[in-house]
Amino acid sequence: MSEKITAPAILARKNGQKLTMVTAYDATSAQIADSAAVDMLLVGDSLGMVVLGYEDTLAVTVDIILHHASAVTRTNPNALVVVDMPWLSYHVSVEESVCNAGRLVREGKAGAVKLEGGRKRLPVVRAILDAEIPVMGHLGLTPQSVHAMGGYKVQGKSIQAARDLIADARALAQAGVFAIVLEGIPDSLAQIVTQEVAVPTIGIGAGPHCDGQVLVFHDLLGLHKQPVAKFVRKYANLADTAIEAIQRYSADVREGSFPAEKETYHMEKSVLEALLKEREQNIED
Ligand code: KIV
Repeated sequence: MSEKITAPAILARKNGQKLTMVTAYDATSAQIADSAAVDMLLVGDSLGMVVLGYEDTLAVTVDIILHHASAVTRTNPNALVVVDMPWLSYHVSVEESVCNAGRLVREGKAGAVKLEGGRKRLPVVRAILDAEIPVMGHLGLTPQSVHAMGGYKVQGKSIQAARDLIADARALAQAGVFAIVLEGIPDSLAQIVTQEVAVPTIGIGAGPHCDGQVLVFHDLLGLHKQPVAKFVRKYANLADTAIEAIQRYSADVREGSFPAEKETYHMEKSVLEALLKEREQNIED
């Protein structure tokens, strides 16, 4: 069994082999992704949309994400498990933010937490780091700001927005985060940030120059039929495979060929005979 991957080990991979991260929301997805030897599993608040069917990530609470994080960490993966801090779990006060991050570690067994935002979130980032909890930053298209951004739009396109994002990344790295997710930004900006900061950048819709990449499990595997963003590469079409399998199952049930002999339990002949005899007598009485 290979060694468990830690936040310092991820940090040490800056300028090394590219890092891979995939979301995992339950034991099965965690086991599959960990068997594929990814470096990090992200219990992302995208589970609100992907698993729970909400329109955005804002409905996810600490209790909801803990439920999923616990399922992932119970599988004891080698990959580092990073758990998203949900919206409003780190916006009210520094103290509450540290307590919520602590719950993700103590109850959810997270190896690190991720939170969205740059300089605005520095007091919270510093306090969580002071509590000895590794923090992953998240800049660019930050889904928890969907209303403030006016929708899911590529960020950092103007010179001022690009300058701000670079300053945010530098501030997070200086504060001590071990990695930064860059989501939905132009490739050249991601390249500048990646060259500028001493911590790994993990891209999603941020081009090829980041130190690693992250994708949503269900997008990567084609587990749903909804349209996906431009940056997603589907490595399989498991939704089609699953639909076809369930259609075959239904057809077999309807025509009576499932379950077959080898899929059926039997009672011992003597027990069955005694049971049938007893029933016959009961009917006569
Ligand atoms: O919640 C999530 O899946 C994420 C990734 C998109 C980075 O934050």
